[in-house]
Amino acid sequence: MLTQERNEILTHVGRGTKLGELLRRYWYPVAFTADLEDFPVRKARLVGEDLVVFRLDDGTYGMLDEQCPHRRASLAYGVAEPEGIRCGYHGWLFAPDGQCLEQPAESEESTFSDRIQTGAYPVQELGGLVWGYLGPSPVPELPRFDIFTWTDVWRDAGWAMLPINFMQIMENAVDPTHVEWLHGRYANFIRTRKGLASALTFSRRHVKIAFDEFDHGITKRRLLEGQSEDADDWKIGHPLVFPYMMKVGGGAHRQMQIRVPIDDTTTWFILYSTHKPEGVTLPPQESFPNYEVPWRDERGQHIVDYVEGQDIMAWVTQGGTPDRTQEHLGKSDTGVILLRKVVFENIEKVQRGEDPLGVMRDANAARNIDLPIERDKFGGGAAFEWEFLTAASTRYSPQIDRLRQLYAKAEEAHKALASEVSGMR
Ligand code: FES
Ligand SMILES: [Fe+2]
Repeated sequence: MLTQERNEILTHVGRGTKLGELLRRYWYPVAFTADLEDFPVRKARLVGEDLVVFRLDDGTYGMLDEQCPHRRASLAYGVAEPEGIRCGYHGWLFAPDGQCLEQPAESEESTFSDRIQTGAYPVQELGGLVWGYLGPSPVPELPRFDIFTWTDVWRDAGWAMLPINFMQIMENAVDPTHVEWLHGRYANFIRTRKGLASALTFSRRHVKIAFDEFDHGITKRRLLEGQSEDADDWKIGHPLVFPYMMKVGGGAHRQMQIRVPIDDTTTWFILYSTHKPEGVTLPPQESFPNYEVPWRDERGQHIVDYVEGQDIMAWVTQGGTPDRTQEHLGKSDTGVILLRKVVFENIEKVQRGEDPLGVMRDANAARNIDLPIERDKFGGGAAFEWEFLTAASTRYSPQIDRLRQLYAKAEEAHKALASEVSGMR
């Protein structure tokens, strides 16, 4: 349970709030690269700030405050030009550094563009995402987590804009036992009624859970019934990447779950996946699809027959901001309690003028950050991969048939290898 005051600190992301100031020390995805290639000007919103993100012909990115300093029209309806973005209303032109370059409706004598500067923020491209930073200088390094840097994989990204605060989604990232109930018992209750196969690998009982703090967040580990302590789930686990991501996956599927805090009660939930089925030569993938994942049906009911739909049901029904004064935590909530402690500790760090957890200043160290996760997830082997292609959000991907073919090929290659090996015995 939290006091009302602490619940508000934990969930307010705007400028000048305690958490908001902590969150402004990190880089966030603000757009998909492919979307800006399709159309070079997009509105973005991040920790309560309205922004415009754009791409110039030479590939330079820019991110500015959305409202034009002239008479406040939206630059998200601006014109991308070689030097910057031109407001759609009266044509003021802004460079990516926020400097006003032209006021075409003014005469040469009356122009005052040199005195006009709008809010401008650093932007970088990484892994098919455009990342922005809203915080103070000096600007930290953009951490290049492994999954965003791999070149020999196929990518796939589903997303949903959820009407809730991001912190309850992060609490779910340190809540191992929900898997056996939400994705096991509840999922099977729903799926058997629909005539769908039961989710096998998710149903195993948790014997114990553990959490370890590390340089970029918290690793969570679990021991399931029947497993020995050298199982990947216990030995390796997977990380919550502070303050807004979690890396998961199993087998040839890796996924960064990104929970971008848009404002106090909106979160952009991105399921950024990579696939590298073993024994298959992957054809190169020029760009990857991003697609909206449906989570409500036509009657407004939650869609709960797939994994992330079940998570979304739990998060959304907790409320836009859960009333944590009314909760009752137990031993199984140890990870949730730890996450809150880490958040409050890092709020204090920022207040003391220190860098919070995971903020990087060393370009070399930020170049490629390894985030180990389980390979054999829940002891499921290839079954886990297949469940992710049928009973998780990837089923909505426009390239799902292609992905299934690639995994089927991998299975064939595996079988061929196995029979060759047994033939050699
Ligand atoms: S409002 Fe943008 S140029 Fe007038
Ligand atoms: Fe879950």
